[in-house]
Amino acid sequence: MLLIAFEGIDGSGKGTQAKLLARWIREKGYDVFLTKEPTDGAIGKLLRESLRTSCFDARTEALLFAADRSEHLREIMKKLHEGKVVITERYLYSSLAYQSVSGLEMSWLREINAFAPEADLVVYLDVEPEVALERISSRNSLRASVREKEHFERREFLEKVREVYLALAKDSENFEVVDASGTINEVQASVRRRVGRRLAAFEEEKKHSEQRALEDFT
Ligand code: TYD
Repeated sequence: MLLIAFEGIDGSGKGTQAKLLARWIREKGYDVFLTKEPTDGAIGKLLRESLRTSCFDARTEALLFAADRSEHLREIMKKLHEGKVVITERYLYSSLAYQSVSGLEMSWLREINAFAPEADLVVYLDVEPEVALERISSRNSLRASVREKEHFERREFLEKVREVYLALAKDSENFEVVDASGTINEVQASVRRRVGRRLAAFEEEKKHSEQRALEDFT
């Protein structure tokens, strides 16, 4: 019925915000299916392994992300057909942003993901990589000083990923860019405002198409 994707760099708060949004949409009486990529399926597991050990090169990883998505979509489509609102933490746009920064052509990435429909709404949680990395290191209680070089490289990488996300957002009407540097409650309030608007527009459109169908019938 409605596919909402949460996107953002690592540490932008996608998981927390997606859960809170799912709860809010449920309270409005919708059936919600909350899910994520990489999935917990066989290909998703392989991907997590590769992210940890770099056992595959960038091109193979891109193909695996697409394959994982293809499997994921069977489940997503089924839930949409059942009339559910589907919220996914990461989707197609993660591949476009991360894998292009890993050196792969955007046109090729679009091609191998051509089977994936655009999300009805993409909530992009925008945060500076430095802030996101601080959140991650406090979550994992890593000492930044020990991993300074790693931290620096990751920050540079995520800065580029953020640039691609912002360029994608500029080119697409489906994107809502949300400032994710505030508190959990502040960010959630902003997410709800944007999604609420879209939900209302969607309900309106549904009402019209039902009315048209009824008129055609009578
Ligand atoms: P995830 O588990 O969402 O990590 P986090 O919670 O830190 O955001 O995703 C794991 C990593 O996989 C993350 O660094 C982004 C990357 N990724 C891609 O590079 N391409 C993709 O298509 C997807 C879905 C994820």
